[in-house]
Order: sequence, then structure tokens, then C-alpha cells
Amino acid sequence: MVPDAWYAITTSRRVRTRPVALHRLGRRLVAWRDGDGRVVVHEDRCPHKGARLSDGCVDGGLLACPYHGFRFASDGRCVVVPVHPDRPVPRALQVHPLPVREAHGLVWLWHGEGEPSAELPWFPDLAWPSRRAADTTLELPLHYSRFVESNFDLYHFPFVHRSIDPGMGVAMEDFACAHDEDGAIRTSGRLVRRDGRPGASFRVDFLPPNVQRIEVARQFVGLVISTPIDDRTTWVFARFETRMAVPDWLARMISWLLAKVDAGFVQVRQDLPVLTQLTPLMADPTACVWVPADAGAARYVQWRHRRLRRAEETRAASPLRQAGS
Ligand code: FES
Ligand SMILES: [Fe+2]
Repeated sequence: MVPDAWYAITTSRRVRTRPVALHRLGRRLVAWRDGDGRVVVHEDRCPHKGARLSDGCVDGGLLACPYHGFRFASDGRCVVVPVHPDRPVPRALQVHPLPVREAHGLVWLWHGEGEPSAELPWFPDLAWPSRRAADTTLELPLHYSRFVESNFDLYHFPFVHRSIDPGMGVAMEDFACAHDEDGAIRTSGRLVRRDGRPGASFRVDFLPPNVQRIEVARQFVGLVISTPIDDRTTWVFARFETRMAVPDWLARMISWLLAKVDAGFVQVRQDLPVLTQLTPLMADPTACVWVPADAGAARYVQWRHRRLRRAEETRAASPLRQAGS
């Protein structure tokens, strides 16, 4: 996955009073809240004998291991060893909290060697909390890059989703795609139905490494975050916001229905049978023949490829690696 970036790894509401096991970015992590309510994330392994800390509990603002009750503070230090209450705690007995932030109802983890960047990848018009939005999460048996790529593509609707297609349209008109050096991508266009009547207008925007804003007919906005669990599975966070001129309660109900239908039916029943059969498993700029309507997806796949290659070159050139090779 692309390094030196913030990745949303879970929702704020999932991390309450108990430690939570999270498999993200290929790592086994535990998330918990300290006595001040701050989220702490680190490897889900006790340094004593390797027990799973997420099976323990939070007590007095400390994370207690389920095996021998050693307790860890939010800075990672072990501060209580019940079997030796009067002895100093060995220095090596500590976990290593990772850089995390909590914002927009999500917990974000910095993945990389460098200093965390100040800004989270976020679209400022999607304020949270919102009285008109609802969200959902799901796990998909896909590489995350394929899911991000697929979210640029609304013109598969009349084919994959023909049973529920509200008339999105087949052909593309007025398509535009802009991007910047940092990897942000903006696309917009309009679909036209087979009989020539207008379909839906849309915008799909992307912020690196994995955040997308999908707007349809100026009435529905979806925020989709696709975070790798491992090379074959993706954790997806989707938040829908209804902007139709209806009361807040109705807008929220529509958003909630959209979330339910999307997670329970559209993604799982209709998209997955196609997406899980794509080859290769990961998005690859050399493995597709793009058409103009794919400009956003192509930009994303090329950007990801460049970033991964640059990270590999940096890693190969690092003095530590040279010394070890
Ligand atoms: S393994 Fe965690 S306290 Fe012993
Ligand atoms: Fe779809």
C-alpha cells in the first residue's frame, strides 16, 4: 500500500470501553481509549509472552493483558506487573503506540516512516456529525486498489445494476478529468440513456491514498474510504448524504436506506461477483486498455503505481538496507 499517508481504520463509535481488534494494513492491531478518552493503537500483542491484548480489558485508563494482567499506559509503558508489585518494571516491557488521529467520526492511522502530515484526506463539504447522513462499513474480498478503481466507474450501472438501475444512462457526455501532482483527482460528466434522454450527472473526486467522494445528480453524495485489511481483503467505510430538498429526518432516512441497500445488496450481490473475478487482483496500469471515460481510474492506478515504485526505490537506497544486503 502507498506509504506516508493517513488511513481511516475504524469508526470512532466502534472504540468504546473495550479494546477492539483490528486487522488493517496487513497488521494485527488493537485500538482502545485511555482515561482521557484518547484513542491508542498499537500491535495487538503483549510483549510479555505474546497474548492478544484485544482479549483483555481497559481498567482505570490502562490496557490490561488477559494472560497475567500486566497493564499498559497510553504511552506504551507497562506500569503494573501484578506478580511483582514491588519491583521495577523492565524497560523492554512496552508496546509502541502508532500515530493516530480521531476526526470526522473516524480513527486514522499514519502509515509510513516520515513525520505524519498535518492534514487528513477529507472533503470539507462533508461535515460530521450531519443530520442528513448515515454510514455503514463492510469487508470485501478484494484488493483495495481494485475497489478504488471501480468507484470511478459509474457507467457500469446499466449492466451490473440493471435490475435496480434508476436510469443512470449508458453513454458519457461532457466528461472532464483534472488532477494534481499530489494525486488528487476530479472527474465529472453526464450519462445519457439509450433513448437519448438525459441520465444522471455525476462527480467523482479522489484524495490520496484512498478517499473518494461520489456525487450523483447533485442530490446524493457518498464518501467511500477503501482501506486494505490485507492483500485480498478491504475494509470499506461508506457515508451517504442526501441533499434533496426534504426535511432532515427524511434525508437521513433516505441516506440510511441507501447505506443498507448499498452494503447489503448492491456491493455484495451485484458488484462482487464481477469485481472478484477481475485479473490481475491488484490494479495495474499495464493490464488494462483504457477508454476516455476511464480517465479518473487510469490517473489513480498510475499515481498509485508511481508512488509504490518511488517507495521501493527509496527503500532500496536506504543505508540500512545496503548494509544488510
Ligand atoms: S502475556 Fe501479557 S501479561 Fe503475560
Ligand atoms: Fe457497482
